[in-house]
Amino acid sequence: MAIELTWLGHGSWSIALRGADGQHTILVDPFLDDSPAAPVRSGDVAADTILVSHGHFDHIADAAKIAKRTGALVISNFEICEWLTKQGVERTHPHNLGGGSQQKFGRVQLTLAHHSSVLPDGTYGGNPSGFLLWADAKKLYFACDTALFYDMKLVGEEGIDVAVLPIGDQFTMGPADSIRAIKLLTPKVVLPSHYNTWPPIAQDAGRWAERVRQETSAEPRVLSPGEKTQL
Ligand code: NI
Ligand code: MN
Repeated sequence: MAIELTWLGHGSWSIALRGADGQHTILVDPFLDDSPAAPVRSGDVAADTILVSHGHFDHIADAAKIAKRTGALVISNFEICEWLTKQGVERTHPHNLGGGSQQKFGRVQLTLAHHSSVLPDGTYGGNPSGFLLWADAKKLYFACDTALFYDMKLVGEEGIDVAVLPIGDQFTMGPADSIRAIKLLTPKVVLPSHYNTWPPIAQDAGRWAERVRQETSAEPRVLSPGEKTQL
């Protein structure tokens, strides 16, 4: 089967794909139980891998809970892996920016993100990241929480099939800067993320999609929380 991406609201995504050894489910930044936008609870999601981009609660809130229930491997930076280990998570794989590793589903690499990162209890969370995934002959880029930055051009040189970009503004780049990001990344498909969870990050995704179609060569796909798209 193709790669299937499900938006779980806010910056949370589920990726279902076929690796060399069968089916995999990868969760990105699980924030479900306290998210007003989540279509599912943390007790109801499957995962064999969890990617955590940074320490803010709206990205890490349910990571330990889900990892402990499912036995999923958590991939994040060194500081966050150490913290999760102290929360009782048994399987972590620490990285740092620019570093990657081969996993059963494919390759994962931590990319730059211009943001901040502190864990819910005040522990230093290391540098925030995005993720680049090579899986099932596709390249997926999750920018996660970040400002626009020119080095996105380097990520684009990889030849991105799908980019997931924040458009919420205030805490990350907004719609206008995301259009500039798409021009640097030149993905085939782009999905908006990190918006409409709360009033300060409310955005008109339909209008954003219109701009993407008019000003870039990417195909925008706007999902509702709980909705899936196939790649
Ligand atoms: Ni954040
Ligand atoms: Mn966030």
